[in-house]
Amino acid sequence: MTETIAVIGGGYVGLPTAAVLARFGHRVVLAERDEERYGALVTGGVPIVEEGLRELLQEGVRAGRLSFSKHAAEAVGGAGFVFLCVATPERPDGSADLSFVESVAGEIAPALVPGAIVVNKSTVPVGTALLVERITGAPVVSNPEFLREGTAVRDSLHPDRVVVGADDRRAARRVGELFSSTGAPLIVTDTVTAETIKYASNAFLATKLSFVNALAGLCESVGADVRDVVLGLGYDHRIGFEFLRPGPGWGGSCLPKDTSALIRIAEEAGYDFALLRASIVANDEAQERVVAKVTEALGGELHGRTVAVWGLTFKAATDDRRRSPAVAIVRQLLDRGASVRAFDPTVSPGDESDDLVGVTLCDDAYDACRGADAVAVLTEWDELRGLDFEKVADLMTSRELVDARNLLDPAAIRRAGFSYRGIGRP
Ligand code: UDX
Repeated sequence: MTETIAVIGGGYVGLPTAAVLARFGHRVVLAERDEERYGALVTGGVPIVEEGLRELLQEGVRAGRLSFSKHAAEAVGGAGFVFLCVATPERPDGSADLSFVESVAGEIAPALVPGAIVVNKSTVPVGTALLVERITGAPVVSNPEFLREGTAVRDSLHPDRVVVGADDRRAARRVGELFSSTGAPLIVTDTVTAETIKYASNAFLATKLSFVNALAGLCESVGADVRDVVLGLGYDHRIGFEFLRPGPGWGGSCLPKDTSALIRIAEEAGYDFALLRASIVANDEAQERVVAKVTEALGGELHGRTVAVWGLTFKAATDDRRRSPAVAIVRQLLDRGASVRAFDPTVSPGDESDDLVGVTLCDDAYDACRGADAVAVLTEWDELRGLDFEKVADLMTSRELVDARNLLDPAAIRRAGFSYRGIGRP
C-alpha cells in the first residue's frame, strides 16, 4: 500500500531512508533545513559521499514520489508517518544529546495530521520514545537504523532485519509494513527493547573489533599471523568473517558514540557494563599501537620527522571523518612533534576543518610522500593498492611503511626497498 511519509533530516540516515522508502513505492517528502544541503538536493545533487544514493534520489524525484522541503512542519502536512532522522551527538560526559530530537518534535507537533505515527530512526537513549510521545501527542514507534555509511543504499534496500518497537503494537506493525517488500524478518517489540537492540548491535560490533584488534596485538607478541587466525575463526559459522579485519581501531559517527552512551545508560540504571568499558580501552590501545609502530619505524623519535599519511576518513567509501581513528592518530603524531603530510581522496588541500589544523594536505598519494621519513596507511582506500611503490620510495628520505589496515602486499612493498610493518603479522 502506498503511504505518505515525511522524513526529517537529510543526513547519513535520512537521505538513504527517504530514497529507499520512495523506491518501495511510497510518497516521500524529505525535510532538510540546512540551506546548502537543501540547495544540493533540489538541483539533483547529494550532499554526502554514498554509493548509488544520487541515482536512487533522482529516480524517486523523476517518478514523482520524492520531493524536498526546507521546513519540517511543512513536510509533515498530510503525512501518515513521520520519520525522525536527526543527529544525536555525544555530550562531553558520553551521554546522547537529544536537543535536535526535542526541537524537531516540538516543531512538527502542531502540524501533525490526526492518526499520524512518529517513527524514531535516530539512535536515542532507552525511554526517548516516551518523551517524543509526550511532546508530539502522537504514537511513537522506534525503528532503529542499522545501515553502514558507504553501503547505506544496499543496507537499506536489503536489511538483515527490521525492528519496530512501540507500546501500541498496531502502530509498530504498520511501520513494519512500510518495509514489507524487503522480505526481511520483522521484530515487533516494545519501545525500550527496540532502542536497546540498536545499542546492543553497535556495542557487539565494537567489542568484536576490539577483540580482533587485541588479538592482533597478541599475534605480534607470540609471532602468529592474525590473518590466518581470522581465517580459522571465521569459518566457524558461529563466529563468521564479518567485522574481523584488524585495523587502527573503530571509529565513525556511531560505534564510539553509541558504546559511550550505552555505558552511561547502564550506569544510570545501576549496572556496570565493565565488558563494554574494556572494549573502549582496547580501542584506544589499537590506535596507540599504530602511533608506536610509526615511532619505532623512525627509530624511537617523532620530533622533527615527517610522516606521510594515506587516508583520513574513518573507513573507505565515505567522506566522514567523525571520530576517525586516522585523524586521532594524526593528532597524536603532531602532538609528539612530527610534521604530517596527508592525502585522502575525499579531502581537498584547501580544507580548513578544525580536525586538520597543522596537517599539510596534499593533492595525491605521491605528493604526500615528498620528503617524508615514513608513510602510514590509515584508511583502506582501494586506489592505494595500485600505486607505483618504486616512485613512492624515490620521493621519500627513508623507506618505512606502516600499514594499519593490512591493505598492501608486503612482498611488493619490500621489493620497492621499504621496511613493512602491518597489523598482527610477523
Ligand atoms: C556502524 C554499524 O555497522 C551500523 O550497523 C550502524 O547503523 C552505524 O554504525 P558505520 O559507522 O557506517 O556503521 O561503520 P562500520 O562499517 O560499521 O565501521 C565502523 C568502524 O569499524 C570503522 O572505523 C571501520 O574501519 C572499522 N572496521 C569495520 C574495522 O576496523 N574492521 C572491520 O572488519 C570492520
